[in-house]
Amino acid sequence: MHYIDTKAGINCLDLYGQHQQIKKEVFEAFEKVYDNTAFSGGYFVEEFEKSFAQFCHTQYAVGLNNGTSALHLAMLVLGIGPGDEVIVPANTFIATAWGVSYSGAKPVFVDCTSDTWQIDPTKIESKINSRTKAIIGVHLYGQPFDIESVTAICKKYNLFLVEDAAQAQGAIFKDKPVGSFGEVGCFSFYPGKNLGACGEAGGIVTNDEGYYKHLLRLRNHGAHIRYHHDELGFNMRMGGLEGASLQIKLKYLQGWNNRRREIARRYQHEIVNEQIRWQKQPLWAQSVYHLFVITTNDKEELISYLNRHHIYPGLHYPVPCHLQKAYKHLGYQLGDCPNAEFLAGHCLSLPMYAELSDSEVSYIIDMINRY
Ligand SMILES: Cc1ncc(COP(=O)(O)O)c(C=O)c1O
Repeated sequence: MHYIDTKAGINCLDLYGQHQQIKKEVFEAFEKVYDNTAFSGGYFVEEFEKSFAQFCHTQYAVGLNNGTSALHLAMLVLGIGPGDEVIVPANTFIATAWGVSYSGAKPVFVDCTSDTWQIDPTKIESKINSRTKAIIGVHLYGQPFDIESVTAICKKYNLFLVEDAAQAQGAIFKDKPVGSFGEVGCFSFYPGKNLGACGEAGGIVTNDEGYYKHLLRLRNHGAHIRYHHDELGFNMRMGGLEGASLQIKLKYLQGWNNRRREIARRYQHEIVNEQIRWQKQPLWAQSVYHLFVITTNDKEELISYLNRHHIYPGLHYPVPCHLQKAYKHLGYQLGDCPNAEFLAGHCLSLPMYAELSDSEVSYIIDMINRY
């Protein structure tokens, strides 16, 4: 049975189909940005900010140049800096920790659970001390972390909750969208994200007017009035082309997320190979399946088998944050976060994007079941 063009193969992610689908609409919007010379910030960014705040059920959204800046500015508006510590999951993309380090504070890594692969709330309290100021929870692979348990710890120790929702635009915890639970919710709109700009972009959502106004200043050279700089600021504005493309793509996001859910459901129900495990989905989590990560005994062997059959999985992530060379000075050892370390050694990501055809999904499932 011919499921696919086996010469081309199936990649972990392919952005071509999505952008062909909306090309005309996006190009028309680009023309408007061009004709208005609204290239940095301005009307098209502001329109997207209004729509995205509404989408996240928050009062405010601030468009930025990328998601790493969002995490950095989140620390600054919360007043976090040198001498402070921030709890961060060991199993995440490194940028979650970068924001903490850029602020001068120290990331303190906590292991994930062995089944949801999200930050383990039972391992947080032993890492809290008088220097701890915040916990960053990550909605990893598109699935909400245990917000209720982490919020309870934040309340008990008077800590800020920051959500890293870079991978989870549209994910729901119980009945509310992620990003709306913490003091601030940080997003990446990197092109490969569920909601990705045609370019680099990111943003922060919040219900706090003070944080909102401060973020507007920080992203724009610390200026309240043009050329009057109240504090050390940054150039972290979102571009107009990015804002315009995001405004269009936001209309499609729910449909694209639903298609990802359909594909994930097929993987979960039709993969019957006992060697394969995937992220446990708690009842309160409505994931948007940014990634579909699996583990197996010998990942190298499975990857080369899949490659031979023209399937090209991804790796998210091969080294946990606490063992990255960049954080060697923090003194973590192998064995400090065993679940994150196990994942790093055994995980791979199956192809996951809304434009995968049913026959491609069938082919991937079939190949894994024959492995
Ligand atoms: C969990 C997580 N946090 C932060 C980021 C950083 O976002 P960006 O690449 O837009 O800087 C990403 C995306 O790359 C991410 O996956």
